[in-house]
Amino acid sequence: MLKFGKRQVRSLVALVAILVVAVAVAPSGGSVFGYSPDTSRGIRPIQFRSNGERIYFTGTSSSRLPITPTGGNMHMRMRGGGCASCHRADRLGGRLMPRFWITAPALTPSALFGARDEPADDDGHGDHGSYDDAALRRAITEGMDSGGKQLDPGMPRWSMAEQDLADLIEFIRSPDRN
Ligand code: HEC
Repeated sequence: MLKFGKRQVRSLVALVAILVVAVAVAPSGGSVFGYSPDTSRGIRPIQFRSNGERIYFTGTSSSRLPITPTGGNMHMRMRGGGCASCHRADRLGGRLMPRFWITAPALTPSALFGARDEPADDDGHGDHGSYDDAALRRAITEGMDSGGKQLDPGMPRWSMAEQDLADLIEFIRSPDRN
């Protein structure tokens, strides 16, 4: 019969704990230990309810057709990612890092289409009117806001299939998860 002393039990417990942590961290690419903007606020869903939601979070389409950003930040160029890396999982936007003086605006229906909740000047939305689908398309693919002004190059210009763009816009039009 094998008998465990207190010491063996303790090292066994430690080993199991290390394994549990390793398994938990591995799927996230180890980003638990590093800075990863899309985990900084809001929760990334485990399963996507639509192709548009998938594109928003991952920058990839379930059609497997390519989605390519031009510009954007270094984090994205190195690791890829979707809109959520800057506009965040909760779609409320936030400052870019390390270029904190640039703000990615909120991409919620109330921010883009409705009357603004509050007249904040630093929410990243330029001085422009409401969006419609055509204006959203131009913002995403050409970097032009609804007032015809060029957006900061911190906002990538995206190239994607027509259907993917339509799915993405439908997702942006949907109410957020909360
Ligand atoms: C690397 C960061 C980054 C990523 C990734 C990104 N954006 Fe942006 N986006 C920005 C920034 C910064 C602005 C604001 C630019 C400005 O103020 O001139 C912006 C602006 C916008 C605007 C204009 C909003 C307004 O109020 O005028 C839309 C629409 C938009 N982004 C949609 C998207 C979509 C859709 C995706 C994913 C396909 C995406 N963005 C990915 C950084 C990003």
